Amino acid sequence: MSCSNDHIGGEARRYGTATIGDAVARLRTGGLVAVPTETVYGLAADSTDPAAVAEIYRTKGRPDFNPLIVHVLDLDDARKLGQFNDLAICFANALWPGPLTLVVPKTANCPVAAAVTAGLDTIALRVPAHPVMREMLEASGLYLAAPSANRSGAISPTTADHVARSLGPAAPLILDGGPCERGIESTIVAIDGSDYRILRPGPVTPAQLEAIAGKPAATVTSGKIEAPGQMLSHYAPTKPVRLGAQAARSDEYHIGFGPVAGDMNLSVSADLAEAASLLFSALHHAEASDKPRIAVAPIPEGGIGLALNDRLRRAAYPE
Ligand code: TXA
Ligand code: MG
Repeated sequence: MSCSNDHIGGEARRYGTATIGDAVARLRTGGLVAVPTETVYGLAADSTDPAAVAEIYRTKGRPDFNPLIVHVLDLDDARKLGQFNDLAICFANALWPGPLTLVVPKTANCPVAAAVTAGLDTIALRVPAHPVMREMLEASGLYLAAPSANRSGAISPTTADHVARSLGPAAPLILDGGPCERGIESTIVAIDGSDYRILRPGPVTPAQLEAIAGKPAATVTSGKIEAPGQMLSHYAPTKPVRLGAQAARSDEYHIGFGPVAGDMNLSVSADLAEAASLLFSALHHAEASDKPRIAVAPIPEGGIGLALNDRLRRAAYPE
């Protein structure tokens, strides 16, 4: 069953008991709801309903070879959809709920609609920590497919306002839970037997994964696109972006970091987690400014810096 969201037009409502029932009713009848998670806002729908999943792709303008993450309440639910070996269980026990997505083989009777996995025999699963997303999972009893709630290829949303602006009239009901704490999408890890690969860097760092697995990640060798983090242009503002900028030119909006003040600063104390939480907001802000170009201060590669620089390089491509 499917329901059109067009008439809703990006209505953002503060999360609370008055909106939970409405949101759950929409999800149960094949509708979409934009929901905050600890990483970014997601565009959620029942992952077992093919029409609802098609509506996600349509609303985002997303190429259909790009599969979706399914959000579940806990590891028990995750194991109904995906096959977990010892390594996957170790990662799940250590890092869930949290900003980690695991790509594992689908179970034989996985009820998720084929379009969610875009024809792959693997599935991307995440147990989110954010109380609003958890409430949606619990109250609906659904497994929720949810990509980031932005137009495909554009900057990810970390506030309800970003969702409304990015999706425009196509935006569904938005549950406003305030700004996302992490501000950058989950780390995606593919499990390959006893090895693992990082398909998209994120808030969970390679050092954390290595400490849990007892070995570093294998290198990503596959030529095919396995995660959007592997697309050269992604998370992209509509303006040219210049990286490593100690100073701005007169036509640039300057995003600063640490001692490079900028027009706004991602973290005066050079704290990478703080910078990650503000990165997409800063890009949204820079995009809305009257300057035709964007410059970004150098950001070190260590820890979450890897994910920050990954997103920035894709935002800057092909500059
Ligand atoms: O933090 C996040 O991960 C957010 C929040 C809403 O959970 N979601 C998010 O979803 O960033 P999205 O759709 O923007 O990016 C997830 C990506 C997919 O685009 C896809 O490339 C990758 O996860 N993915 C999904 N299923 C996969 C699979 N079976 N194999 C490899 N990559 C997969
Ligand atoms: Mg995305």
